[in-house]
Amino acid sequence: METVVSGIRPTGNLHLGNYFGAMKNFLKMQNENNCFFFIADYHSLTTHPTPADLHGSVKQVLAEYLACGLDPEKATIYLQSDVPEVIELYLLLNMNAYVGELERTTSFKDKVRKNPENVNAGLLTYPVLMAADIIIHNAAKVPVGKDQEQNLEMARKFARRFNNMYNVEYFTEPQPFNFGESLIKIPGLDGTGKMGKSEGNGIFLIDEEKDIRKKVMRAVTDSGPTEMNSKMPEPIENLFTLLNVVSEKSTIDFFKEKYATCEIRYGDLKKQLAEDINLFVAPIREKINDIKSNDDYLRKVAHMGAEKARESASKTIKDVRKIIGFKSF
Ligand code: TYM
Repeated sequence: METVVSGIRPTGNLHLGNYFGAMKNFLKMQNENNCFFFIADYHSLTTHPTPADLHGSVKQVLAEYLACGLDPEKATIYLQSDVPEVIELYLLLNMNAYVGELERTTSFKDKVRKNPENVNAGLLTYPVLMAADIIIHNAAKVPVGKDQEQNLEMARKFARRFNNMYNVEYFTEPQPFNFGESLIKIPGLDGTGKMGKSEGNGIFLIDEEKDIRKKVMRAVTDSGPTEMNSKMPEPIENLFTLLNVVSEKSTIDFFKEKYATCEIRYGDLKKQLAEDINLFVAPIREKINDIKSNDDYLRKVAHMGAEKARESASKTIKDVRKIIGFKSF
């Protein structure tokens, strides 16, 4: 039985990228592995949410996790901030994380470019906290989307560095994981780039049918292929990537053929895509609203998860303290 860890920042509702990049794999894994799935609320502080927004987002994401099928009897579902041991490991790992390597990470450079007025130390050490999240349970596998590949590489580096420094084989080097083998990137509807929470290009699991239709119909396209079997430009390929995750094979083949023969009508493709997304999202949307109104249930899940996660994390911290050389008098 392998240990699996994954998490999500509570900075907005779950979208199709979160589901197909991470959640879908996790749902399969929870049946056979020792799974930890958490809400990265400490991580979300890098963008300074208000206290009300912070709690509201955490609650929303927890309800969304459960509505997708995460099972608190099978997986340990918890809030990062309920497990202070993570912060101790974060501090310890920070001593062996170098400013130069942290400054060079793509996501840090991205954030600096986009928000130069808020380059806080939490952003710089984001990958260290993420490494702590993962290795605190000694995870072997981490189901994530393509955008987290570099963070995972850093987590392996920090695990290896700790082992080398203390001449132990304590931490496992966590591997990114997807059943489909390579990690995936779900694109947004704006033609380029990934679907994100704050990019305004996402379809969320709580979106109503009419909103889904509106968003899909507005997706960027072009004037259509003019040569048989031509290569698709990015915005069109993106629509097919979405079709690939929500539609039947026969539907995908049908539109591929139409594209190859220059007979495609993007309006038809989008209509079908919106319909298939809605079919996928509708049952989850209903469950989210049910679960969200059940405070007792949410409380029970969070308490149960916190207890199980702390049990695992405190064992690691005890070992790590001993390895480093802390001794009580
Ligand atoms: P976050 O909150 O941005 O996203 C949560 C998960 O969804 C995946 N994802 C995507 N996958 C494919 N296509 C997309 N367009 C897309 N958008 C998001 C992400 O890859 C991720 O798996 N740093 C993490 C949260 C985190 C974490 C961890 C994850 C903190 N500690 C430890 C795993 C293990 C993040 O910001 O993900």
